Amino acid sequence: MLRRPVPGDGPRITRLIAECPPLDRNSAYCNLLQCSDFAGTCIVAERDGEPVGWISAYRPPARLEQLFIWQVAVSPQARGIGLAGRMLASLLDRPEVPGATEMVTTITHDNAASWALFEAFARRHGAKIERAPRFERDAHFGGAHETEWQARIAPLPQSRSNTGADLP
Ligand SMILES: CC(C)(COP(=O)(O)OP(=O)(O)OC[C@H]1O[C@@H](n2cnc3c(N)ncnc32)[C@H](O)[C@@H]1OP(=O)(O)O)[C@@H](O)C(=O)NCCC(=O)NCCS
Repeated sequence: MLRRPVPGDGPRITRLIAECPPLDRNSAYCNLLQCSDFAGTCIVAERDGEPVGWISAYRPPARLEQLFIWQVAVSPQARGIGLAGRMLASLLDRPEVPGATEMVTTITHDNAASWALFEAFARRHGAKIERAPRFERDAHFGGAHETEWQARIAPLPQSRSNTGADLP
């Protein structure tokens, strides 16, 4: 089942992210805010009552035309069956997302699974994917993290149902 997160999901989302390197481990508090204030643009995939998939996302306040995808996590046992792609597509149907014409994320050069996910998503929606450095290793991470490349996928389909169909 795909659904919106609730604050009670916070600890299990924090654990799921920890199972999914190379994702940054966020603070528990960060995940709680995502599961509450940003619940409209975040999604949980549950199997037998346990979260096996998670996407955090938001509409950047200065760029409301975008849906920014922060993290995508699928438990190792649930990979390779299209779950991440389904969660991304489901977010587009949310009532909080109408008007978004582009999806934006950042990915390190060597994260093949993440590039494959967003390339497949762009292909399925007939959109183009543009890449450019966004946060650079030395200028922005003080040499402590690889450059994060921005992937911008546009145009997003506009004939979306916005029915919130993933609600329980
Ligand atoms: C990236 C990740 C979310 C993919 O989840 P998933 O549910 O297995 O992905 P999907 O099954 O929806 O696959 C989407 C596409 O990516 C491809 N893909 C998935 N994993 C891949 C891999 N390891 N190598 C190459 N391609 C891969 C799939 O073949 C599919 O493409 P297709 O539709 O052309 O066949 C998952 O591997 C993960 O959690 N990784 C660790 C955390 C991470 O790196 N997150 C992304 C950065 S935010």
